[in-house]
Amino acid sequence: MFMDMEPFIYKNNTRYCEDVALADIAAEFGTPCYVYSKAFLSARSRAYLEALAGHKHLVCYSVKAASNINLLKILGELGLGCDIVSGGELFRAKLAGIPGEKIVYSGVGKTAAEIRQALEYKILFFNVESAAELHLINQVAAEMAVVAPVAIRVNPDVDPLTHPYISTGLKENKFGIPIDEAERIYLTANAKLKNIKFVGVDSHIGSQLTNLTPFRDAALRLRVLIEKLSAQGVELKYVDLGGGLGIKYDSESVPEVQQLADIFFDVFSGLDLTIVLEPGRSLVGNSAVMLTKVLYLKQSLEKNFAIVDAGMNDLLRPSLYGAFQKIDKVCLLANGSSAIPQLNYDIVGPICESGDFLAKARALPQLVQGDLLAVGSAGAYGFSMSSNYNSRARAVELLVDGSAVTVIRERETYEDLVKGENLGC
Ligand code: LLP
Repeated sequence: MFMDMEPFIYKNNTRYCEDVALADIAAEFGTPCYVYSKAFLSARSRAYLEALAGHKHLVCYSVKAASNINLLKILGELGLGCDIVSGGELFRAKLAGIPGEKIVYSGVGKTAAEIRQALEYKILFFNVESAAELHLINQVAAEMAVVAPVAIRVNPDVDPLTHPYISTGLKENKFGIPIDEAERIYLTANAKLKNIKFVGVDSHIGSQLTNLTPFRDAALRLRVLIEKLSAQGVELKYVDLGGGLGIKYDSESVPEVQQLADIFFDVFSGLDLTIVLEPGRSLVGNSAVMLTKVLYLKQSLEKNFAIVDAGMNDLLRPSLYGAFQKIDKVCLLANGSSAIPQLNYDIVGPICESGDFLAKARALPQLVQGDLLAVGSAGAYGFSMSSNYNSRARAVELLVDGSAVTVIRERETYEDLVKGENLGC
């Protein structure tokens, strides 16, 4: 039921976020801007919590998808924890009031300082990605005279059937410890490393998965490992199945959260485990649009270019992955857009790179200078992957709650661009 929630609808030929017209937002706060719907975030969070109800669970939002501390706070108040991958994300989670016991720490390259910070905050567990990392965690924990809770992130060698850049669970990927080696590492480390305690097992096989079979295959492999370890005296409490559930960017059909949860209930039935999930995109992806304005129209012999005021520094996914994100005109003509001829546009940004585009050959009702466009599904890996390339100040982030609009991150200024650069040469 929550899948159908759509906060960005047209009323009287103009697009809204909840009860606020996007054109009014652009007029007041300028473009480019990210506009998030609080109602959508809440609905998606509840979808996860309700799907897992009846089983011991913890939903740890994957902070990298959209890291604004206001978003983390909203999700935290609904009962979610966080999946972090850096000391910076830990800092954000703390500011947002997420307690340590609801934080899991993933990532292949944790430093000693980051491990220490996480131990000080008493996180739930580390998802360890190599034997060398296990040793470092043990060493840091020994220095602090504590015992570090850990899970091993296993690489189950399952093809997630998604874009190669966002596949992580194949044996050629850098992530996790091959599942065949994991058992030996659990057993030897359990006997030798006195400052770690194994509490779980983890796997995350990739992102934007629209087929549930790889989730089942990975979970089945984890179950085998959990049972083998249990038979040898290593009892685990948590099974962390990562994130990865896909969302609708265009017309793809995507599974419901409940279908995913049911697979895990089925695979782990009879075992006394807490199920941990690390969703990112499926919580926040469709919670936001990015608004951008048409600066110029330009025609070449072969193409119509719409040059807009958002570039690859603001939204990298189309350039980096060739990702498709819907683009719509915010204001349609009173008689409906279908009355206007459609043209194919390359929607390009102001950055000095040919790879700077938001869409290629996209059919849109004929555009005019000044038109406002909404780039859809911009909530996940949108603002969080934005940069200052070409010395462009990053966009403002806004949260809509009914008819209220709150600035949750101010537009950066030129001063912000040079912060920390001192003319000391
Ligand atoms: N857990 C771990 C360990 C991860 O590496 C990720 C995402 C997640 C959870 C959350 O996955 P999600 O539920 O969002 O699929 N920038 C790419 C996506 C990179 C995903 C990285 N890891 C994109 O824009 O498509």
